[in-house]
Amino acid sequence: MDSHYDSNKIAAPTEEVIAECGSLLREGKLVVIPTETVYGLAANAFDPKACARIFEAKKRPDFDPLICHIASFEMLDQLAAQVPAATQKLIEKFWPGPLTVVLPKKEHVPDIVTSGLATVAVRMPSHPVALKLIQSAATPLAAPSANLFGKLSPTRPEHALPLAEHVAMIIDGGPSPVGVESTIVREIDGKIHILRPGGITPEEIEKTSGLECALEEHNDLPDAPGQLLSHYAPEHRVRLINEGERVETPEDAALLVFSRMPDQHFKITKVLSPERDLTVAASRLFEYLHLLDSEECSTIYVEKVPLRGIGIAIMNRLKKAAYEN
Ligand code: TXA
Ligand code: MG
Repeated sequence: MDSHYDSNKIAAPTEEVIAECGSLLREGKLVVIPTETVYGLAANAFDPKACARIFEAKKRPDFDPLICHIASFEMLDQLAAQVPAATQKLIEKFWPGPLTVVLPKKEHVPDIVTSGLATVAVRMPSHPVALKLIQSAATPLAAPSANLFGKLSPTRPEHALPLAEHVAMIIDGGPSPVGVESTIVREIDGKIHILRPGGITPEEIEKTSGLECALEEHNDLPDAPGQLLSHYAPEHRVRLINEGERVETPEDAALLVFSRMPDQHFKITKVLSPERDLTVAASRLFEYLHLLDSEECSTIYVEKVPLRGIGIAIMNRLKKAAYEN
């Protein structure tokens, strides 16, 4: 796909490549890194100029703060002024992994990373290549998803090619196994607010933290910017339908179903998980949306998935992909 982009930038994560990326990141360059959730567009979090290039490359508005990726608790200490008790439990249980925590920031964390907020979002990814790259750079890496702002999230190195001209390298760590972005949480006054549903489910958060947990979809919390109603959007129009629902003119349309082939004939159909496994569905979600979006079709119809576990994160992304496009 995307043959007009410079695919020479994609490199396998050899020792030499990882060492070189560490130097490039320290020099202020951008590198696309694999993570277990989605691919990230990374820069040295303590280099405001490098972080500014992220916004430029993604065409991202500057009110949308970045997540800092760390490989050790020393790095957490460089970023966060304090870690509340229940958040500490979540970190111990889910790091490294697809959980981002919003914490009061240390003063020297650049405003461009936090959009001027008093808090910073931090996560320790579990992807071994991500961890090696952060260690090699020897600094926390600010990294949003490696897509153009508002577009489909990248779960394979090729998906980051529209950013190729802005980056020194795209590191190939294989398909992202989780497939949807991290769960973002913030502890306020004895309650855990889920600012974005993701790879860790609300049930798991509640059980581990021992606190009540509130899901803030399209939230109006003043300190939860960036969660826009329209996001993750393919080029084609997306319409959500119920399982098994029939549509008009399926022959011109693409279809993404949860588990069962439809009885109508669509131009192209993809099945997320024949065995109805929501985790498998999440891991294929953006890959299949990219694939259907590259077809000529009038509309991409997408079946809703059950609203439980990681299905909550899938439906969150699908509603945004379908919002007025
Ligand atoms: O899985 C992920 O989290 C991926 C990979 C690359 O790690 N990253 C990712 O980043 O999804 P991005 O930029 O697409 O989403 C970051 C979101 C922002 O839109 C914002 O909603 C939230 O994180 N965020 C960042 N800093 C925040 C803060 N201080 N307070 C509240 N929300 C914050
Ligand atoms: Mg994103």
